[in-house]
Parts: sequence; C-alpha cells; structure tokens
Amino acid sequence: MDIKTETVQKKPEDIRHELQAGYKKAAGNIFISDRQGYWSNLDKDESRRLADISSETGPRAAVRKHYPQFFNVIFSPKRQGGLELLDLSGEESCVDYGCMWGAMTIPLAKRCGYVLGVDQTLDSLRFLSTRLKEEKLDNVDLLCSNLKSLGNFRNKFDVALVNGVLEWIPESGDIELKRYYGQYKPKEYSGPTPGEQQLAFLKTVHRNLNDGGRIYLAIENRFDFKMFLGAKEPHSNLFFVSFLPRKAADWISKIKLGRPFTNWLYSFKGIKKVLEESGFSRVELYMCFPDYRYPERIIPYGGSLKDFTPTISPANDMGRKSYKRFLARIGEFAIFGILRLKFFAPSIIAIGHK
Ligand SMILES: C[S@@+](CC[C@H](N)C(=O)[O-])C[C@H]1O[C@@H](n2cnc3c(N)ncnc32)[C@H](O)[C@@H]1O
Repeated sequence: MDIKTETVQKKPEDIRHELQAGYKKAAGNIFISDRQGYWSNLDKDESRRLADISSETGPRAAVRKHYPQFFNVIFSPKRQGGLELLDLSGEESCVDYGCMWGAMTIPLAKRCGYVLGVDQTLDSLRFLSTRLKEEKLDNVDLLCSNLKSLGNFRNKFDVALVNGVLEWIPESGDIELKRYYGQYKPKEYSGPTPGEQQLAFLKTVHRNLNDGGRIYLAIENRFDFKMFLGAKEPHSNLFFVSFLPRKAADWISKIKLGRPFTNWLYSFKGIKKVLEESGFSRVELYMCFPDYRYPERIIPYGGSLKDFTPTISPANDMGRKSYKRFLARIGEFAIFGILRLKFFAPSIIAIGHK
C-alpha cells in the first residue's frame, strides 16, 4: 500500500475525530455548533414533523404522503447529473455546504469515500439522517452550523459542493420560505455587502480544501434568458432584479418587499472573477439546461450549441402543463438552438481548482 492510499483511507476517521473534539453530538451522526439557524420551504412545525414521521415510516413514504410537491426535488435521480463533471475516484473526502435534505449529499456519498453535510437547519439534517439510514450509508456525518461562522478544518477536503447556496449566504435570520418568498417583510441589513459576504464564504471554502482540491458551484445565471422574457427572479419573486444594477434592484425590492435585494447572482464572467478572487487558480465553466437543479444538458461554456434541442418541459414538477412553459421552451430553442447566445444560459456550474 503506498502512502497516498494510506492517507486517503485515514482521512474520514480524522475528520470524525475533529468533529467529535470541536462540536457537541446530537442524535446519531449529527454534530451541532452553537450557530444554528433556519431556512426551509417548510415552516418550523412542518420541518420537525417531516423529520419525526420520516424516522418512523422512512423518508420516501413520508414525503410521498405528506409533501408530494417536494418529492422530485429531494429524490429525483436527475438532481445528481452535474456530479459526473467531478469524475470522482471513490476515495475523496467531500463537504456539501448547505446540504439541506441531501439531494446532492446522498448521490455524492455513493461516489466518494466520505461526505460532511453542513447546514444551519437542524430538522433538515434530522430528515437527511433518516435518508442515510434508509440508504445504508455510513460514510456521512452532518454538522449543524452557520456557514458564515465556520472556522478552519484541520483535515481538509478534496471536493466542496456549493449547490444553490451562494445566493442565500447574504441572508440572515430565520427564513420560512413561504412567509418570505415574494412577501412584504421589512428587514434591515448591516455590515458587509452581499458580494463581500459571498466572497468571504468562498474564501473559507477555498481554505478548507486540500491542495489540488475542487469546488463544484451551481447557481442560476444572473442573465438567464427567462428573466428577460417575463419570468420572475427565483429567490425574490420580483421582475428584473437579477440583471439590473444592484442599486436599482435594491430600490425595487425595498418598494415591493421592504428589504434590499440580497440574493446576488452572477454572470459566467462574474462567477469566474469571484472564484478567482477567493483563491481558485483555474475555473471551468459550464452552461446548464434547463437549470442546475435538474441538469439535463451540461455544455462547456467554451463549447458549441450546434444541434441544441430544448430541455424545458411543458409540464412542471407535478406534471401540470402550462402555456408559459411551452413558450419558454420555444424561447429556449430560439435563443440557444438558433441564435446560440451562451451568455443567456439559465444556470452555471463552475468547477474551481485550488
Ligand atoms: C436552496 S437550499 C439548497 C439545498 C441543497 N444544496 C440542494 O441543492 O438541494 C439552501 C440551503 O442552504 C442552507 N443555508 C443557506 N445559508 C446558510 C448559512 N448561512 N449557513 C448554513 N446553511 C445555510 C439553507 O439552510 C438551505 O438548506
């Protein structure tokens, strides 16, 4: 056995010891810091109930029965499509920042040696813990903590996932999405700008990677074509705010929602710049269709859109068809299949190399 293999095999144990030394242990494989928070599509009672029922009936049955609208977002095999880009060997130690219900944590754990899932929402981690049990995965630990107050890990990771999380980093306080998304809820923010907070978080991600480690970052494109054709920005439910200058977006958001627009998204060029500023020496960019959550087609940003066929389904997650989705499908074909305007691709996956 050579030295490299020995190091890789020892690492998950070392990370576990580090967690045991630094944090309190809650149930099972969940560690907790004193910096918890709340973010979920469900309200707090529902989250607790989902975790409780899942531990009795199993997570699939619980979601199918009580929250069928979230079944695909949690369990769809399409969610893991982007992980192919990492070409994992099966031995890597990974961290999934903002892991929530484990849509990426579980498929990642099946492809690598170890995963630490980190999230601020304890009940989401309790639910994920029931998924790990159901899947008989014992190579995952969970840490309940605010990503903005994470320190340095002595044992570093080979891969870090930041999937649909960077845009939420500037938020503060508890977020129950249905009482927040598109709702008038006045809120003051102080301290660093959203961009400064995102940069600080990405620097932490960078610091906690081994030399040669990689970040997998997935996020909506600030210039997603749909937002120019009448679709609302998906985090605030407002028109135009993603692509307008940040100050103008703040004004619109303050008028409509009583708070500034903090869910900053980036263009391809913008995300590359932020990753480079965070310390990543090389960044690969991919266009992702129809979006990063259910990636059906992932094309290098430098690649060709020749032979592009549309990916937007005329039906939503629940199988309901709508004329808006049909028009979006036509728009998608016109913009990418005919005009080949890569700049307007819906989502971005960036792989940054340390
Ligand atoms: C949109 S969900 C993404 C979930 C998951 N990565 C996926 O792709 O399914 C965002 C998650 O990030 C977590 N999150 C956002 N900001 C956070 C912070 N400052 N600290 C810890 N977790 C955070 C939320 O709790 C939530 O679970």
